[in-house]
Amino acid sequence: MSFYEILDKMFSDFEEYKDIQKGKGVRGELITTISPKSVKLAAVVEAVHLASLLHDDVIDEAELRRGAESINAKYGDFTAVMLGDIIYSRAFYELTSFGEKIAKIISNAVYQLSQGELEDVKLSKEMNLDKEKYMSMIYKKTASLIQASCEAAAEAENLDTRKFALYGKNIGLAFQIIDDLLDVTQDEKTLGKPSMLDFKEGKMTLPYIYLYESLNEEEKKKLKSMFKKDLNNDQKNWIKNKMFKFGIIDRCYNEAKELVDEAKNTIKEYNFSKLQLIADKIINRKF
Ligand code: IPE
Ligand code: MG
Ligand code: MG
Ligand code: MG
Repeated sequence: MSFYEILDKMFSDFEEYKDIQKGKGVRGELITTISPKSVKLAAVVEAVHLASLLHDDVIDEAELRRGAESINAKYGDFTAVMLGDIIYSRAFYELTSFGEKIAKIISNAVYQLSQGELEDVKLSKEMNLDKEKYMSMIYKKTASLIQASCEAAAEAENLDTRKFALYGKNIGLAFQIIDDLLDVTQDEKTLGKPSMLDFKEGKMTLPYIYLYESLNEEEKKKLKSMFKKDLNNDQKNWIKNKMFKFGIIDRCYNEAKELVDEAKNTIKEYNFSKLQLIADKIINRKF
């Protein structure tokens, strides 16, 4: 059985479950690549990820996930929150069967992820211009669970957990940088949600931090005036053109690529060609 099949079976009792938009399965794929026998662990981690997205869409008031109505949009916030809790609890219950080490690696990542979500909310109250704060937040909200997936799978196979954790951390950071970049560069159709939504939600992602640094005083004022507002196409294009003009799109992409190269380098002594492929796929994607 694939990890997706195990996952679906775990929650088949809940009628709303069928309407949850599943992710790309990156975490599950990483786990089963490093440890083919760990299909159930992969399902558990994908469950954790699913629960985090249900809560994330409530927090972000997101109406769409992957082009379909989000659970909060379809059934309301209460259902989305409780469904998230149900999935988290079941995942933690299942997690206990993998032994203390693995259970601690994954549950600690969920703790960090939740802290990261909280930091994301706090940072979006004002226009954050601090790259360190951004990096620390994306490490917690996104990279921690990807790191833990790789670390736990390595633990299951008695491989060097430190190396696999580092691989996971770096592709995790790259994943979020690219996610934040795609929000700017891709259109609504490709994204399955409105474009440039992050800035409207108060999220000063890496391209916006760099953009602010590059603008003159007058332009800085202009950008500030658009922060957290519904932008028309002219305003969106102004932002995008400035980002292209200052080479910010390439700069962010290259930073993500460097992280991916570092990740690939960390595990090069192992013959995991698929891990190299997954790493490349993370930066070469359209949505
Ligand atoms: C990522 O946050 C969600 C979690 C890691 C829990 P985002 O808010 O940036 O994710 P998307 O863009 O809604 O998928
Ligand atoms: Mg979100
Ligand atoms: Mg969010
Ligand atoms: Mg995003």
